[in-house]
Order: sequence, then C-alpha cells, then structure tokens
Amino acid sequence: MDPSAPILFFDSGVGGLSVLGPTRTLLPTAPIVYAADSAGFPYGTKSEAELAARVPALLGRLVERFHPRLAVIACNTASTIALDHVRAALDIPVVGTVPAIKPAAELSKSRVIGVLGTEATVRQPYVDDLAASFAADCKVIRHGSAEMVELAERKLAGDPVSVEDVRAAVAPLVEADGAAGMDVMVLACTHFPLLADEIAAAYPRIALVDGGAGIARRIAYLTRGQPWPVEAPGGIAVFTAPPRPVLASALARFGLDEVRTL
Ligand code: DGL
Repeated sequence: MDPSAPILFFDSGVGGLSVLGPTRTLLPTAPIVYAADSAGFPYGTKSEAELAARVPALLGRLVERFHPRLAVIACNTASTIALDHVRAALDIPVVGTVPAIKPAAELSKSRVIGVLGTEATVRQPYVDDLAASFAADCKVIRHGSAEMVELAERKLAGDPVSVEDVRAAVAPLVEADGAAGMDVMVLACTHFPLLADEIAAAYPRIALVDGGAGIARRIAYLTRGQPWPVEAPGGIAVFTAPPRPVLASALARFGLDEVRTL
C-alpha cells in the first residue's frame, strides 16, 4: 500500500466534513480527498433512480482520478439509496453512513426518538428496518428537512445562521403528533452535526446523536496496519461545480488546503 493513497470522502456538499473531523482525530496524517457533488446538490430532494445512477458513476470517476485506498460515502441520502450500487461498482472498501438509530435507542429513556434527515433518507425502507431491528419499543418520529441542509451550507460559507432559524426548521419534528417527551434526536444527515450547537441551544433537553465518531472508528479499523505519511499532507477538496470562494476558509479548518473543480 502506497502511504500517499488517500481516503476519499464523498457528499453532496459540506456535510461530509462532520465525518472528516472525527476521522482526522483518529488518523491525523491520513491523506484526504474530499469530494462534494455541488453540481448535484441537494440530494435530499432527488429521486431514488436519479441518485442510484448518479452516485456510483461519480464515485467511479473519482476513484479513477485519485486512486483512494478506501471511499467513505459521508452522506446518509446517498448511502441509504446507493451504497450497494457503489460497492458493486468499485473494487476498494466502501464505508457508508447509516442513521444512528441503534445508539439513540440505547440512550432514550422516554422511548420517543426523533430522526432528522433529508426527505429522501427518512422515506427509505432502510430506516424502517433500522427502527424495527433496534428501536422496536420506541416511537420513532421522522422529519425530512431541506431547510436544515441549506442552513448548514450557509453556516460553513460564513453567512449568519441563528438559533431561531434552526428552531423553526427543526420544530416540525419536535412538535409532530406523538413527539411529546422526545429525549433523543438522530442527526441522520451529515450536514446536521455542523448545526449541533444551534440545535442544542434551541432544544437543550434533547440529546443529539450522529454517526460521525462511529464511522471514523470503522475507517480506522478497515485501514489498520496500513502505512501513512509521517506528516499530514495538505488535503484536497474537489467540487463538481465551482464552489463559493468564501468556503475556502472553512475547508482549510478541516485541513483541505487545495480546492479544485472536477
Ligand atoms: N449530507 C447529505 C446527507 O447526509 C445530503 C444533503 C443534501 O444534499 O440534501 O443526507
């Protein structure tokens, strides 16, 4: 294994940074390519057929270009719809992002759990299966929010996002029928941990659970024993449509020094 072979992160936008962050903590010198399908953003309002065709094709191009040792679909929407198609198309390990319903059920005392994802994610049978397998004795209430995805993109680009903006976007979940007593919320879209401070300020009694740390541990496990560079090389961010230049400073905070358009 070439020590310079990167880990490839993939999302529709900046959401995957919430998975990259914990991965950097575990693997500080790992070479990183972070790919954002900004030309296809947002994914959450697209159809299953569209994503099942688009995501594997794009990942195929990225793998040919960057020769990663492992790919991470750091996007719940793409994972719940296209993970099997991507695994079938690529000959490297592919790590997906699964709504963290299992840890949420382990944590909930009231047995009322909220799942906040994109519209496409919350309607997936995959989410029904997770709820049935791991939270059968819980009331699992779901809401898909395109507004929250937009707010996360705005925040990372340095635009002001207030607690009130976030409260208004999350309210349909917390105030849904049967949601009284909700004590745990699954952030089932990788964009949403980027707004964790605002969600916690708006709803301080609800614990927030996301998959970032678990995915980072999985990546470290799958790459155990592999050689890494001695010092962290600069990471590369690749966009499918030119990003707003103001994003560069947020990307640099995650070690992504170079920004390219695919
Ligand atoms: N970050 C993505 C997810 O985890 C998708 C956001 C979007 O493009 O709608 O679902």
